[in-house]
Amino acid sequence: MEPIYEGKAKRLYTTDTPNVLRMEYKDDATAGNGAKKAQFENKGKLNKAITLLIYRMLEEKGVKTHLVADVDDINIDVKKVSILPLEVIVRNIAAGSFSRRMGVKEGTPFKKPIVEFSYKDDDLGDPFINDDYARELGAATEEECAFLKKQALIVNDVLIDFFKQVGLTLVDYKIEFGRLAEDPSQIVLADEISPDTCRLWDIKTGEKMDKDRFRQDLGNVMEAYEEVLSRLQHKA
Ligand code: C5P
Repeated sequence: MEPIYEGKAKRLYTTDTPNVLRMEYKDDATAGNGAKKAQFENKGKLNKAITLLIYRMLEEKGVKTHLVADVDDINIDVKKVSILPLEVIVRNIAAGSFSRRMGVKEGTPFKKPIVEFSYKDDDLGDPFINDDYARELGAATEEECAFLKKQALIVNDVLIDFFKQVGLTLVDYKIEFGRLAEDPSQIVLADEISPDTCRLWDIKTGEKMDKDRFRQDLGNVMEAYEEVLSRLQHKA
């Protein structure tokens, strides 16, 4: 297998099957666009297992994803896609960059979910953009932006309910989409959905169960990820 891409948290390899790639989840953690780095034993394994559970559940609900097959502890096979250079962020409760930029207290619930886009470009610091920017930057057409927002809200409804059942509040999250190599007119959910990419708060205690534990040096980072996985496994 040939490595063809290495990102901050994952590696991609070719496989013998055309248009199928192997995705390896790494133990590396970064925050603040790579400004803060660390390694956590088992992070790849935990995020892979959590993403797999969530992707299988989303597929059951009719959301198309890149998932092909589970391989082992840290690898899954995925459809080859060309990732749209957009991060689609959905927020249910104010936190993180929203609270910082807007001066809104962390924990303030929104009347309706906010969907926002940022442009995937590390050198530019993944700036906030809107549909018009996406069109002019050639990142996605207006129709595609509308589709991404619609998908993001469907995913939100499913995930809010899913996490609620295991005592977790879905505060916000980031998802990414890709065009299938075998049919670029089809856009599917790609990348991961894990405590690295979601904010999850324990419903009873309010405790943060996600990457904010690393960002804010709260400690017990992997213990929180393990707890998320164990709750989801017991539910499944
Ligand atoms: O930092 P911010 O508040 O904009 O993040 C919103 C959500 O998107 C958080 O759940 C965060 O973990 C996720 N995110 C991500 N990758 C990024 C930026 C944000 O997973 N590059």
